[in-house]
Amino acid sequence: MIYNKFGQTGIELSQLGIGAMRFPLTEEYDPTKIDEVKVTEMLHYAIDNGVNIVDNAYVYHGQTSEIFPGKALKVGYRQKIHLATKLPVWLVKSKDDPVKYFEEQLRRLQTDFIDMYLLHGLNKNSWKSVQEHDIMPFLDWVLETGKIRYAGFSFHDEPPLFEEIVDAYPWTFCLIQLNYVDDQDQAGLEGLEYAHKKGLAVMVMEPLRGGKLANHVPAEVLETIQRSQWKQTPAQFALRWVWNRPEVSCVLSGMSTLDQVKENIGFACVDHKNTIPGKELELYARAKEIYRSRTKVNCTHCGYCLPCAQKVAIPYILELYNDAYMFDAARDSRWSYRVFVKPENRADQCTECGECEDKCPQQIPIADTLRAAHDMLTSE
Ligand SMILES: NC(=O)c1ccc[n+]([C@@H]2O[C@H](COP(=O)([O-])OP(=O)(O)OC[C@H]3O[C@@H](n4cnc5c(N)ncnc54)[C@H](OP(=O)(O)O)[C@@H]3O)[C@@H](O)[C@H]2O)c1
Repeated sequence: MIYNKFGQTGIELSQLGIGAMRFPLTEEYDPTKIDEVKVTEMLHYAIDNGVNIVDNAYVYHGQTSEIFPGKALKVGYRQKIHLATKLPVWLVKSKDDPVKYFEEQLRRLQTDFIDMYLLHGLNKNSWKSVQEHDIMPFLDWVLETGKIRYAGFSFHDEPPLFEEIVDAYPWTFCLIQLNYVDDQDQAGLEGLEYAHKKGLAVMVMEPLRGGKLANHVPAEVLETIQRSQWKQTPAQFALRWVWNRPEVSCVLSGMSTLDQVKENIGFACVDHKNTIPGKELELYARAKEIYRSRTKVNCTHCGYCLPCAQKVAIPYILELYNDAYMFDAARDSRWSYRVFVKPENRADQCTECGECEDKCPQQIPIADTLRAAHDMLTSE
């Protein structure tokens, strides 16, 4: 296993970390039914083979994902890893809530401290909530009392806000979405470089775009990957691109089988920093272009369409719709629509008032697109 510096802390993180968001299930459509036997085997195998960071969150698996690893890690594994988990900022409604959630997290995880504590999924709205509910003083307090070792945040918005957040607190680290298709989206490479320059350790999530860059890969992309000087799977092609960046401390992958854990650990035993030559980078640019050319609707997730008077989750629904075509992933998109989008936020709630279309910088015919998306996302 290759280990990298975790910012200025003096500790080193395995370049591969386990993400708890996609544990295998015993019942396909019930995220709370974690397959405890399989996941215990995966976690123990990963830690025995050098992985030293496990990332979790209050909300994963229908708010149950902290309970089960709490049990699986208890048997001598807790002290071998750095445990990361996240405050669900969007659930915080009062100044007392952060402490309430935090104490509940310690109980669920069966630990008396958390190594890496993140404000979960910061964006325009949740960033406001951080200020309104005094979440920064709460972070100061958990740091001073040793209840957490390092403070960080995960991010889903545009670069200017990312830079504002980086500069607003003495964070140790941040967690950003980064892969060769999304290199210019959200924080992107610009954010990676900015955070690194400011002394933050950077962890990466969604290196395989939640698995879409590894599974059901279109033939044209496969042909591009096969032109590489390295013989590699699509998953390795994608992981190599992230690990090539020396600013990255650790890449989290939410592996869903033991074979995936084994493959990724095997690949994480090689140091990939600064190893991709220009000719190979052209293959990444080509593969990205192929994916992008399959885009159905030109939404950049800027969020200008929000708030929707009917509370339709417009950018997320358009993303699921796009993903279905870009990654031949209709089944995944339908699953996410059913699991993550509440009936009151679905596309069929749109009343075609047109307010969002007036605000959309891409001039997307949102009402028509929502109708098409809903049909596609609810058809079997
Ligand atoms: N804070 C936040 O806002 C936030 C958001 C997203 C993620 N995260 C964290 O970041 C972690 C990583 O993100 P992610 O889960 O999206 O990671 P990812 O690595 O992009 O996706 C994981 C999926 O990739 C596939 N996969 C992994 N290794 C593979 C291999 N060797 N061969 C084939 N397929 C492979 C599996 O998909 P299949 O199941 O389809 O096989 C797996 O479920 C999450 O688990 C979570 O802990 C945080």
